[in-house]
Amino acid sequence: MAQSRVAIVTGAARGIGAAVAKRLAKDGFAVGVVDLTEDNCKETVAAITEAGGTALAVGADVSNAEQVAAAVNKVADRLGAPTVLVNNAGILRDNLLFKMSEDDWDLVMNVHLRGAFLMSREVQKHQTQENYGRIVNLSSTSALGNRGQANYSAAKAGMQGFTKTLAIELGKFGITANAIAPGFIETDMTAATAARVGVDFDQFKEGAAAAIPVRRVGQPEDVAAVASFLVSEEAGFVSGQVIYVAGGPQD
Ligand SMILES: NC(=O)c1ccc[n+]([C@@H]2O[C@H](COP(=O)([O-])OP(=O)(O)OC[C@H]3O[C@@H](n4cnc5c(N)ncnc54)[C@H](O)[C@@H]3O)[C@@H](O)[C@H]2O)c1
Repeated sequence: MAQSRVAIVTGAARGIGAAVAKRLAKDGFAVGVVDLTEDNCKETVAAITEAGGTALAVGADVSNAEQVAAAVNKVADRLGAPTVLVNNAGILRDNLLFKMSEDDWDLVMNVHLRGAFLMSREVQKHQTQENYGRIVNLSSTSALGNRGQANYSAAKAGMQGFTKTLAIELGKFGITANAIAPGFIETDMTAATAARVGVDFDQFKEGAAAAIPVRRVGQPEDVAAVASFLVSEEAGFVSGQVIYVAGGPQD
């Protein structure tokens, strides 16, 4: 049985992370809402608090080891030992390979992969002590390859290998690790992509929806629902899996 009901969600100021944080709060978790600054976490925290839940705003760059340690300590001190971690923080720096800079590459690797590594390494200290834990990492359908995303695709494929390895290493401590790989989800991230390629967002979404078997784009809540299951106690025999949340099958 879980010893504590404390979750950390990174990149939770907006988009998928905010929806996951709100959903986990509704499920009864006290939620550490982590994003680049404490200030930009306030909206998510206010929404959770107004709905009767418990949340704490924590400013941290997930790719910075010191800030990660301080963030996890703050959550542990104020809310209790975190047993659930959702590694959701992410960024895009899309470009075709010949135009991709080293900074574009490094930044994407650092936020997704180094960030998930640092957060997981810090949180597993609490999880192993509690002999219970749930880790959910955000991958993407782009892990299967996507034009203009050599950096992001490599990072999201890396998240899958990372997840499976955590599942193998941490299983004996009652900890599961799974990945969610969303397809097109309507957030600021996909809006920025539409802006970058010069297409109106509504048209961009329509175009995407036409190619999706369920004929709609995803919403952050579609991802939050799957995260809610994966972090639940009853999901304890599901580990090392990659669940595509994309409105249809993936190759
Ligand atoms: N939107 C999609 O279609 C989609 C599809 C597949 C996967 N994903 C993944 O889901 C996750 C969330 O995506 P989203 O669409 O909600 O994006 P978003 O851009 O709306 O939100 C990302 C959040 O992460 C935060 N963040 C960025 N760098 C950070 C850092 N170094 N430290 C802490 N926080 C940081 C941002 O401030 C932002 O609040 C990402 O990992 C993304 O790659 C999104």
